[in-house]
Amino acid sequence: MTEGSGSPIIAIDGPAASGKSTVAITLARRLDLQLVDSGSMYRTVAFLAMESRCGSTDEMAVGAIARTVRAEYRAELPGEGQLRVFLGERDVTGEIRSAEATGAVSDVSRIPVVREEMVDLQRSMVSRSGAVVEGRDIGTTVFPDATLKVFLEATAGERARRRYREYREKGIDANISEVARQIRKRDEIDSSRESSPLAIPDGALLIDTTEKTVAQVVEEIAEALEDV
Ligand code: DC
Repeated sequence: MTEGSGSPIIAIDGPAASGKSTVAITLARRLDLQLVDSGSMYRTVAFLAMESRCGSTDEMAVGAIARTVRAEYRAELPGEGQLRVFLGERDVTGEIRSAEATGAVSDVSRIPVVREEMVDLQRSMVSRSGAVVEGRDIGTTVFPDATLKVFLEATAGERARRRYREYREKGIDANISEVARQIRKRDEIDSSRESSPLAIPDGALLIDTTEKTVAQVVEEIAEALEDV
């Protein structure tokens, strides 16, 4: 895979609700690049583990599910709206963002075999024409030689408010202190796991999105890309 300016790989990492997804989607559309949302892959594993009732910490069973996801995962970014995620022909876009799947995702994603399968899937999905790849370990583990590495952060309070607003917009009943508690818990598991924890990659462009709009963050990344 060449990583010159004609086929850039832009790695975007950061904690839950730091603005990664919206920024990555907007940037992919603006630069006409493929979007690889690695969180949606771990979420698909979590959703299938919940559906099969195998328990999110059963390494053998969840490992087998991860192999199925690697073989059958597909994603499409339409001109508008969110990324659509499919498992074979089955559309799982809504299911993978359910409270149940979200509650299980940090547990399944700390299983080493799950990470190996998902990292393989992420690498195999990136086409020759480049991609925007977002997650927790993209710049550190999946694409350490990415053209540009970005790490997004925002205060815990702002991240809780964003997630709370998202729930309300979707008509999901939510309580802001409970949302804040879940985000803190997910941050802690994601940052402390042994296998490729959430960390700031060497040489990453650090952007605090707390007081910035999506357009400002995307502009900052696009400008940085011109300078590499
Ligand atoms: O970005 P997200 O909220 O959709 O990610 C869901 C979970 O997936 C996150 O809490 C941890 C896991 N994840 C991961 O372990 N590694 C990644 N590269 C992306 C996500």
